[in-house]
Amino acid sequence: MSSLFTKGPFDPDFGAKSLHSQLGAQRKHKIWAVGGGKGGVGKSLITANLSICLALMGHKVVAIDLDLGGANLHTCLGVPVPDKTLSDYLSKKVKNLSDLQTPTLINNLSIISGAQDDVGIANLKQMHKAKILSRLGELEADFIILDLGAGTTFNTLDFFIAADQGILTTLPEPTSIENTYRFIRSVYHRKLKMVEDLLELGPVIDQAMNVKISQQSTPADLITRVIEINPNMGHRLKAELNRLKPKLVINQVRTQADIDIGFSMKIICRKYFGIDLDYVGYLDYDATVWQSVKRRRPLLMEFPNSSLVANFDKIVHRLLELS
Ligand SMILES: Nc1ncnc2c1ncn2[C@@H]1O[C@H](COP(=O)(O)OP(=O)(O)O)[C@@H](O)[C@H]1O
Ligand SMILES: [Mg+2]
Repeated sequence: MSSLFTKGPFDPDFGAKSLHSQLGAQRKHKIWAVGGGKGGVGKSLITANLSICLALMGHKVVAIDLDLGGANLHTCLGVPVPDKTLSDYLSKKVKNLSDLQTPTLINNLSIISGAQDDVGIANLKQMHKAKILSRLGELEADFIILDLGAGTTFNTLDFFIAADQGILTTLPEPTSIENTYRFIRSVYHRKLKMVEDLLELGPVIDQAMNVKISQQSTPADLITRVIEINPNMGHRLKAELNRLKPKLVINQVRTQADIDIGFSMKIICRKYFGIDLDYVGYLDYDATVWQSVKRRRPLLMEFPNSSLVANFDKIVHRLLELS
């Protein structure tokens, strides 16, 4: 395996400014990232089928498997393990990111595969993360869809934050919902740290955190306190954090109550995090999903009459409206 993946402790002081400057750059394509929760909640399924929907609509799409260590997006897209992976690019065996693009059965849709070994994304060095982010612009694409894999490592959070749309998926069950809140809280803190560095807000935030600390204190309370201390900075902080609007998909729904969980999660996020969660849709629990995975064929192509087709159609249209 490439020596370019560090096995050492990850440097927590990630260069927020450099990332931020990439975020603001005028991009010709849109980046959507699918993350959150544990394995098995449908991230790869969603990445694959959103990509297919967009490609069928005539957009040029590149789906990228960033689930380093657990890469299996290719299976959901019905292609064998690609010969060249991101590891080859980072170790400079391959010169251009575009050399990694492997065509799929669908016109306009190619895939870039993650590493096929057990490097976790947590071990991706900061410079490699920055390199991948900055070079995405070289790809001929209207949409780049990232499958982030499970977990809340800094690298995963940074890709999620860097995307134009960050999409979270959860199952309608308590453990999965808790994981989603944990992910949102981690994204919030990561973004807060970036904005804090960018606006050089450290001392004001320290001061705000020292005032009236209570168990019930929420991120929204923190902003209120910063505004009290320094209204100008406080409002800038608020504006930056308001740009964080994760999108939510509830996967494997069986009842109306499952569907309604998305609305409750939206209310809870606003109340406790001061974050607007956009509930963009749900996916039915449907046997066609595992049947298509077993056949290693893309769901939407193998079962065009599945109820999931209508589900995905709604989600894609909602996401496009928000783009
Ligand atoms: N809507 C669904 N209906 C039925 N089974 C599903 C559904 N979504 C996911 N699954 C099952 O869960 C498995 C894991 O999905 P996957 O997209 O690989 O999750 P992740 O990428 O989050 O690990 C799928 O192979 C499938 O068997
Ligand atoms: Mg996956």
